[in-house]
Amino acid sequence: MESMRTKCFQANTCHRVAVKPFEFSDGHTARVGDAVEFNQHAVLSDAVTYPNPKEFDPGRFLNKGRSVVDTGIGWPFWGVPRMLCPGRWQVANVTKLVAVYLLANFECRVEDTRGMNFEWRDALVPNAKTVLLMQARQKE
Ligand code: HEM
Repeated sequence: MESMRTKCFQANTCHRVAVKPFEFSDGHTARVGDAVEFNQHAVLSDAVTYPNPKEFDPGRFLNKGRSVVDTGIGWPFWGVPRMLCPGRWQVANVTKLVAVYLLANFECRVEDTRGMNFEWRDALVPNAKTVLLMQARQKE
């Protein structure tokens, strides 16, 4: 979860375009054709919820009753109600299986951890030039 929080691949989520004039409860308006997005980067790096938000703290979510498949305004990674991602359990399970398989079978090291991602529009994109060194673990 801390990786998702600190390296969220989309700064904005819930991308919408107004098909008719819309007024939000706080008075903000959207004209036809206006794009409206939710700034999840701001939520995920809010210092009130996440003290030292820029720091990667692997234990930040431990024993907090939180889960990668959480939803809601505080964890909008999977979208917002009415269009929540139904694939999130599969993503969570497959990601864990792949991670366990790799860690169990290979010694892994990233050759150079600098510049592993770059920003493009609202996206954080993995750098294809990053080299992951892998050596098969000796079987007993
Ligand atoms: C890291 C991987 C994934 C991420 C971050 C992700 C994220 C999202 C988000 C943010 C939405 C809401 C879009 C919106 O409101 O405009 C969404 C919708 C959806 N996702 Fe995913 N998703 C992922 C993988 C998957 C997978 C693996 C599946 C299928 C096996 C899936 C199926 C869907 C479907 C069908 C919707 C539309 C739901 C609806 O219209 O009610 N997603 N996803």
